Amino acid sequence: MIPFSIHPLRSLLPLLILPGVAVLAIPAQTRPVPNPQLASSALNARVEALLKQMTLDEKIGQLTQYSAGFATGPGSGASNQRWDEMAAAGQVGSFLNLADPAATNHYQHLAVEKTRLHIPILFGMDVIHGHRTTFPIPLAVAASWNPAAAETVAHTGAIEARADGIPWVFSPMVDISRDARWGRIVESSGEDPYLGSALARAWVKGYQQDDLSRPDSVAVSVKHYAAYGAPIAGRDYNAVDMSEILLRQVYLEPYRAAVEAGAATLMSSFNTINGVPATANPFTLNQVLRNEWGFDGMVVSDWGAVSELINHGIGDGPTVARKALEAGVDMDMEGYLFGTVIAPQVRAGKIPESVVDEAVRRVLRVKFALGLFEHPYAPEGPAYKVTPELRATARQVAEETFVLLKNDPLQGGGPLLPLSSKTEKVALIGPMADNQREMLGAWAVSGSARDAVTLRTALAERLGNRLLYAQGCNLLSGDDANMVKRVHFAGGDRPDIPFSIPDDAKTIAEAIQTAKQADVVILALGEPTDWMEGEASSRATLSFTGAQQQLMEAVAATGKPVILVVLAGRPLELKWAAQHVPAILQAWSPGIEAGPALARVLFGDVNPSGKLPVSLPRSVGQEPLYYAQLPTGRPAHGDLSHLPREAGEKFMSRYMDEQNSALFPFGWGLSYTRFTYSQPTVSRAQLPLGELLAAGRKPAVTVSVDVKNSGSVAGTEVVQLYIRNTAASLSQPVRELKGFARVTLAPGESMRVDFPLGFDELNFYNAEVKRTVEPTTYKIWVGGSSLAEAETELKVTE
Ligand code: NOJ
Repeated sequence: MIPFSIHPLRSLLPLLILPGVAVLAIPAQTRPVPNPQLASSALNARVEALLKQMTLDEKIGQLTQYSAGFATGPGSGASNQRWDEMAAAGQVGSFLNLADPAATNHYQHLAVEKTRLHIPILFGMDVIHGHRTTFPIPLAVAASWNPAAAETVAHTGAIEARADGIPWVFSPMVDISRDARWGRIVESSGEDPYLGSALARAWVKGYQQDDLSRPDSVAVSVKHYAAYGAPIAGRDYNAVDMSEILLRQVYLEPYRAAVEAGAATLMSSFNTINGVPATANPFTLNQVLRNEWGFDGMVVSDWGAVSELINHGIGDGPTVARKALEAGVDMDMEGYLFGTVIAPQVRAGKIPESVVDEAVRRVLRVKFALGLFEHPYAPEGPAYKVTPELRATARQVAEETFVLLKNDPLQGGGPLLPLSSKTEKVALIGPMADNQREMLGAWAVSGSARDAVTLRTALAERLGNRLLYAQGCNLLSGDDANMVKRVHFAGGDRPDIPFSIPDDAKTIAEAIQTAKQADVVILALGEPTDWMEGEASSRATLSFTGAQQQLMEAVAATGKPVILVVLAGRPLELKWAAQHVPAILQAWSPGIEAGPALARVLFGDVNPSGKLPVSLPRSVGQEPLYYAQLPTGRPAHGDLSHLPREAGEKFMSRYMDEQNSALFPFGWGLSYTRFTYSQPTVSRAQLPLGELLAAGRKPAVTVSVDVKNSGSVAGTEVVQLYIRNTAASLSQPVRELKGFARVTLAPGESMRVDFPLGFDELNFYNAEVKRTVEPTTYKIWVGGSSLAEAETELKVTE
């Protein structure tokens, strides 16, 4: 590889213009500078001055990261190491998993005071949806379609992490996730690159505050670069295989957005991409990330990903470490290779020292930008306390994340939700009704279950003795139910869970009795967070675990009106529920204010406004399931709910035993009010291609629509715009999201919503893997979900 010198104003090659193919006209363009702080010449002068003084061993020390606290991966490394000695000898560039100023300051004093060059240690940690204050999981935040909410969650996490001595967070996770079998979908923004990119920018902004040196900002680590969310068969860590066009058009987009927003670091992923491991991939790490996107920050490997290159079969320890470093990985997280096998290879002339230098520069840039040389220590202040203000923020975010999937009218009346405050008796049933730990969700690393308010607590406050309660069953059955007590993967604390094997038949019978005494039943079911969600938690089925399905069927059989509240970090199969239960609220893992937020939405104090960031399947066999599919030559049509009855119903792209469509599609979500849409209009029906290209990244046309709240209560609608390129040189998806806006309307109120469209929205990657727009017609739909029907058109002419 050719190591870069720092910040040359490198010209991008002028883009190739082929006959009949137009690409964005950017003549000899200077290299983008996405993070001016990391690119600043003053900062880089400090980097160079320090680098000049460093010995090879001191340089290598900067490229290592060890877990000195709990483990968030295989092995616990920590216990065998002499961290004090290593920190004092400058052999530690970074520690992860320490969250306490006393602990971080201890090591920082050793590094700053005992080492020759006084280089501070960079402390990193998984701060995924809040640090001490646990907010809804990222997939839920995505369901709000509100980038400001992501920004709030990130900024709150940044303040609390910095206070704990952590200036670097392993977030946001921006992997496009189109397969609900993959447990890490919980940490993602779902299936769509446009929504995912908008949220990626917001997470980065919220954490970094556009200035890494601020006491309320932290450096992000955008992960998991790249395409970690597309493992074959949905099995975590598995290989990823896809065309470069799909990689760029869909999977790389949110990383690109995060880099453009100034992300200071990225994390390289565990998977291979078309046979090349992402942690030793010069194409993604150097060509795309650094050459094309102008990234000046550093890349840390995921936990052990450098040493796991041996398992990928691309060499022994020294070889894989060399390959990772040369490909552009700057820091080895818990791999124990950079610290041991790089220096001998440099001394033997197998690795040019300039390669090491370049990695060290990138690490030091981040340390300087964070102000660690000026302020290496965290102030040891009072312990964290969840304040009423923090609770209010957590509750408001949670309220925006709930998706009302279904809300049928009861016989002779209106829709089941919202519940009337006059409802005589409410039965709350289910293993998610009163479980504090489960409200936090996956990767609530530093959150405390004791801070979580359950639905039972919140409803008891509202209803007093009008609330009846039965657990109904555990999240898991048999001996499995005990596992949740024995095993806890990511630190934090939890209330005790009884150790005896549950008697499902008995507890379900009790729940039936409870339901019978009530006017309405709220059934809180879900998925056990620690066992089933997050890393290493792929599933081959998407059904409710344990005896929950049985419980649901038994409760529904009482004939009482049932509201199902689904508390899960991934799409579950809700087919039976959709057929038999009148109201369903998808509530994800809502965080510490789960109960109050849910109670306010269920009783109508707050009107639900969430929309699905991911398609909910009918059956697991549909996965990976996403709305932006490519068309087929034999598109399915008609009723697919039965076996084909003639050839016309058979020879099409369909299943014999399931429908193609999602049970609840991307973008879906109901409200307690009703929104109506006018016919959308385009500011000009025809747009010459030359004009579009000349506009560069600025909008060239505007699509407008009037949205009206036609119901009787105020509500918030997420207005969505989809396009289809109907005549491209390569087949394009049947629909793609290219705009959205959250609008709040009083009853009877209307608002005009404008969507700008330009090259950024209309382009695709052509056969030469260049972003392009060609003469074509775009169909355009605007509405409240990916099923939007109000339609218009835009012609791009020669
Ligand atoms: C492994 C996970 O894949 C990654 O997301 C996380 O940041 C690291 N471990 C550190 O805990």
